[in-house]
Amino acid sequence: MESNPPRLKTNFADNDRYIYYILYIIYYNRLHQLKNAFEEKYGHSPKFYAHAPGRVNLIGEHIDYCGYSVLPMAIEQSILAAVSVNDSGKIHLSNTNPQYKDSTVPGSETIYIDKDDPQWHYYFLCGVKGIQENFSMPNLVGMQCVVDGTIPASSGLSSSSALVCCAGLVTMEANEKSLSKVALAEICAKCERYIGTEGGGMDQSISFLAEKGTAKLIEFNPLRATDVKLPGDAVFVISNCCVEMNKAASSHFNIRVVECRIATKMLAKAKGLEWKTLLKLAQVQTELGASLEEMLDLVEAVLHTDEYSREEICETLGITSEQFCRDLLSSNTQHVSHFKLYPRARHVYGEASRVLRFKSVCDSQPADSVQLLGDLMKQSHASCRDLYECSCPELDQLVDICLKAGAVGSRLTGAGWGGCAVSMVPSDKVESFIQTVREAYYAPDSRRAAMEKQSLFVSKPGGGASVFIQE
Ligand code: GLA
Repeated sequence: MESNPPRLKTNFADNDRYIYYILYIIYYNRLHQLKNAFEEKYGHSPKFYAHAPGRVNLIGEHIDYCGYSVLPMAIEQSILAAVSVNDSGKIHLSNTNPQYKDSTVPGSETIYIDKDDPQWHYYFLCGVKGIQENFSMPNLVGMQCVVDGTIPASSGLSSSSALVCCAGLVTMEANEKSLSKVALAEICAKCERYIGTEGGGMDQSISFLAEKGTAKLIEFNPLRATDVKLPGDAVFVISNCCVEMNKAASSHFNIRVVECRIATKMLAKAKGLEWKTLLKLAQVQTELGASLEEMLDLVEAVLHTDEYSREEICETLGITSEQFCRDLLSSNTQHVSHFKLYPRARHVYGEASRVLRFKSVCDSQPADSVQLLGDLMKQSHASCRDLYECSCPELDQLVDICLKAGAVGSRLTGAGWGGCAVSMVPSDKVESFIQTVREAYYAPDSRRAAMEKQSLFVSKPGGGASVFIQE
């Protein structure tokens, strides 16, 4: 890199020389390569760089969109973009991975995002559109961007949200606007829905609000992040089961969101609440002023364990089939005829309670902290597998192998149906753990063996999104 290295922008990230120094060391090689790629592509130097990390969720799966707190940490892998600005009014996007094709779109019209064709650049455009709408800017400046990603795609480590967040940050910076990290997280959570998935906001929140060295409890309404001190005698190891799951390309994810929404209405109606205005399971708890244990009892009392047909739901709620399709279903769940309400609601209230217990163990750090946290992780996986049905045979096998290899707790992380497990491993057992998982899960299968290097690694809590200016 030339004599003047890019400077961390101080009015966005923390005004701290130390943080700048650390980030610069971490990203030096990547920045250098990206700068070269950018110059080769566009014939001039980038004006600035933006970076947004992926995340691993330690506990609290599929409950953010129900209004409940989650407990993720940022990972070192991230999306890094190099950007220059011009007055062409056009947005040029290129990716260092040749698998992802170049794309050019006008920044002066309504930005089009094709939900039925979730290509990489549409995720970027979600972030662009979010900022464009937030500032009501019909005409965006022209941008030339090269994007570099190190988060394995469709692995449950939030590569798509990191891309949306990076794009939001890039668009804000290029158009000389300024927003707080909380505002950026909220905008990016909302605009990612343009691609069609009804995610809850965990991924975007941790990408912006993460701080090096600490996991975070993320609470919603209002959005805030609180430090969670993890035990010093254990580490978190991520392992990818090597089954890809693209949540925008299938309807599993949105079916769960819809089932939770219907369960909200059914529970609220049974308790005589204003059910039409309630959308999230957490709102029912708030309205009733009940504990999570009482909510679990309510689920037992109100919902039956068999699937519900559309007809039964419409009859109970007193709505027509048209109202059901319009008000309760999303565009990619219109075909679904049966809904599992009891197991989904049981998972959500149980998992919400596990997050609070996890946080309280981390706060009080009793002598058996690692064991207690491990148990909560195991219960979380069982609930995701059996009640929420968001695991898959390979993930279950990998979690079993991790537990046998010495993890005190192991669970799927992220949306599921493929992707990664996260395991909590006593620090003195990490080497033997990795060796055993390598031999039992990766080595016997040539495809997995080829992916092992980027699929099995220790992860420490990383920092949040940032901008570097090239001077
Ligand atoms: C995806 C979504 C998140 C969250 C997780 C499951 O990553 O984007 O909002 O719902 O799945 O916990």
